[in-house]
This record gives sequence, structure tokens and C-alpha cells, in this order.
Amino acid sequence: MLKTSRTYHYPAGRNQWQTLLNSVSFLKNPIKVISRNMKRFGGTYSAALMSKRRFILTEDPAFIEYVLRDNHSNYQKSELSAKTAARLFGNGLLFSNGEFWLKQRRLIQPAFHLQKIQGLQQIIATTVQEVIAAFPSGEKVDAYALMQKLSFTVLIQSLFDIDLSFETASELSRGFTDLQDFLLKEINQPYRKLFYKVNHAERNILRKAKKIKAILKAIINQRRSSTGTYHDLLDMILHATYENGEGMDEEQIIDEILVLLFAGHETTANTISWLLYLLATHPSDAMKLRASISKISIFESPKDNYIQAVVSETMRLYPAAWMTDRVAVHDDCFGPFSYPKGTIIIPFIYGLHRNKIHWKDEGRFDPERFMFSDPAQRKKVKNFFPFGAGPRMCIGNNFAMTEMAFILYELVKNFEFSPTGDIPVMWPLITLRPKNLFVGLRRITPAVS
Ligand code: HEM
Repeated sequence: MLKTSRTYHYPAGRNQWQTLLNSVSFLKNPIKVISRNMKRFGGTYSAALMSKRRFILTEDPAFIEYVLRDNHSNYQKSELSAKTAARLFGNGLLFSNGEFWLKQRRLIQPAFHLQKIQGLQQIIATTVQEVIAAFPSGEKVDAYALMQKLSFTVLIQSLFDIDLSFETASELSRGFTDLQDFLLKEINQPYRKLFYKVNHAERNILRKAKKIKAILKAIINQRRSSTGTYHDLLDMILHATYENGEGMDEEQIIDEILVLLFAGHETTANTISWLLYLLATHPSDAMKLRASISKISIFESPKDNYIQAVVSETMRLYPAAWMTDRVAVHDDCFGPFSYPKGTIIIPFIYGLHRNKIHWKDEGRFDPERFMFSDPAQRKKVKNFFPFGAGPRMCIGNNFAMTEMAFILYELVKNFEFSPTGDIPVMWPLITLRPKNLFVGLRRITPAVS
């Protein structure tokens, strides 16, 4: 039985004034502030903004599973970031809720089944090989810039397996980065909104969003009038039908494509950038990887035990989705806590992945934790949610694991990595972006036989 409004039992935590006082350091480094509070309050705490609404932040795996999986029907994505994002990126899967979300998820999910991703492998592998072949050698490189370009190109090619002109590809990439940067500023520095009318920032960005949509529309129309055969994501999306046999309208197709680009490009770029840093600073693991890939082809890499373990351990230490959020639709309770509808629950994935109760030597990069004689075990690892959990779990996880394995394979096959002495820092925006992440890259000259 749920309590009346006067008897809710929130976890201990920060009141409105403490939250306000903390807000400057929070905006500067949310992971540090949340981690400090987690330690103080034992893994779950509450915070309050000036509105009556409370937040509950948790790194308790049981609470996280309760919200994301066991009682998921009582939780929706919070409108805090979703509403802002939807204005620029439309009403795609990531930003929708309720019946509409379910209908869209059922429609799009089949395109991301493992068998379908296997059909995309050739496109992903060729793109990865082409982009990596042009990487610089003998230099200190900005790993994030390289990986962002790589993951964007892979996603664009997987969506549209056509030769986009250089101008169109650049316009898409530039425009998309502008939209993302604008969204980040809006979420992290909400006071900027006050100036939008004066400096026309809002009008300009909406114009850019319109331009991107026009490019996508032209690509879709070109495809619809083509008689060729395609095996890309666009083909699967265009042929997907609802239960009544109808497909999506053009506007919704564009929104879903935008969401795939939004959700799939930076998450992968961040993970692979951190992975490069870890390999540059852990040469013995890089050597082990080199030995592992010498016996297999690129297409076998997604099943390779050690490659999977290295990627998983990277996502444990640097989960691209470092937190997520849900809002309670009805009053609810978990363990000793009870809270009213409207409460925002924040699963703090980063904290859980680095919690010493669950992970021995929690800060150490140790891929051995994820080595299993039966690969099916990897999907059952406890206290590990890089792709979320429950019905809203990442739809692109098979795609991402395949892509990251291919990238890792090609990088290790072609390059040696070295540390540069620069210390990267975590920049927790919507995803856990690295800042100042430089790596030494030297192309391995193939031995002359
Ligand atoms: C390392 C790479 C990736 C990571 C760590 C990641 C992580 C996540 C997480 C944690 C969620 C769930 C968020 C929540 O519960 O609130 C999610 C959702 C989603 N992801 Fe990914 N993702 C990755 C790559 C991709 C790729 C490559 C795509 C598509 C090409 C993609 C598409 C999506 C979509 C559409 C959703 C929303 C699903 C829904 O709400 O039903 N992701 N992702």
C-alpha cells in the first residue's frame, strides 16, 4: 500500500538550499558531486530543486533494475531533456513515451536484430577500413576528433549505402554537430535561453535543423524512386510496417533517422576514444589484442572473446550513457523509500560501474573480468548496464558491438599506440565525452616476406 502525501519516505539527501549551493560545482563536474553524495548517503540519495519536484539518484543495482525493468510501465523518460531535444531532433524513439514509443519500437527493433546487423557487416567493415586507412601516422592525434568522424561516417553509410557527395556528407556532419552543441548548451546553461531572441540563436538553429531534414528528405525521395536493391538501414526502415500493414510517414522516418544518428554516433565515438587511451596506456593488453586478432578475420572479431572483453571493460570504466533518467507516472515505493508521481529517478550508471562493493579493484582496467568460456555469460553480467536495461534498452547494441569490434580490429592491425603524457578528463555532457584525449599513433609497416 502506498502512503499518503505526508508520509512519503524519500532517501536522505540534499534539500533545496543545499542543492542550489551545490549547483555551480554540479554544473562544472556532476560526476564528482554525485559520487561524493553517493558515498555520504550510501548509494541512493534525494535532491530537490526550487520546484517541489524531487530527484532520487541511485547507484543501487536493484533500484536501477526496478525502475528500468521490473516496474518499467510506471516510468517514462523525463521531459527535462527530451522536450528540448525533440524540438531539434523530432519525435523519434529516444525522445518519445507511452503507446507511441511502443508502436515505434516494435516497428524499428527488427532492423537491429543480430541477423540484420550481420547483413550490414560488409558496409560497416568497408567503411571502417577506408576511414582508418587515411588516419595519420607518427603523430600525436586528437583521438576524439578522429573517432567522431569515423563513427559518423559508419552510421551514415549504414543508413544510406550510397555515394553521398562530399558537400552533402560535410553539410550533414557539420549541421548535426551544430544541433548537438546547441542542445548541450541549452541543457547545461539554461540561462542562455534569455538571449536567444536577441541574438537569433534559436531562429538560426531551427533553420539548420530544417536544412538537415531537407537533405534527409531528398535522400529518401531518391531511394523511393530508385529501382536498385539495397541492404542498408534505410531500406529496412522504409519497408517496416505497423500491424495495419502501413509504413511510417515521411516526417516520422526523418525523425527516426535523426534519432539513430543522435543516439548512435557520439556514444560509439566516446567509447572508442577511451578505448584507444586505455590501450595506449596498457601496452600489455594491446599486445594481447594483437595476438588475438592475428588469428582471425575482421568478420570474426565481434565473436572474439578478448575483443569483447576489452570493449566491455572500457564501457564499465567509461559508460557513454553515464546516467539516464525516468519520471514516476504514479506514486511508487522501493525498499524503505516511497515517493509521489512526478519524482525523477536518476540511475547513476558510472557510479555503479565503479562501485567497489561490486567490482574488485574498481578503478583498474582489467579485461579479464569479462573473459568467459561461454560467451552467453557476457550478457548476464551483473551490475553492468552500459546499454541500459528493460524494454528501453539500447536498440543499437548489436550494431555498436559489431562496429566497435571492427574498429578495434583495424586499429590494432594497422597501428601501434603510445601515451603522450596528456591526461584526458571526463566531460559528462549527455554522454561521457573525453576532453584532452591525445594518443600517439604509428602505422605498422607490413613485414616484407
Ligand atoms: C557504445 C555505443 C552505445 C551505447 C553505450 C549506448 C547506450 C544506450 C543506452 C544506455 C540507452 C538507454 C537509455 C535509457 O534507458 O534511458 C540507449 C538507447 C538507445 N540507443 Fe544506444 N548506445 C550506443 C549505440 C547506439 C547505436 C549505434 C544506435 C543506433 C544506430 C543506438 C540507438 C539507440 C536508440 C534509438 C535508443 C532509444 C531506445 C528506446 O528508447 O527505445 N545506440 N543507448
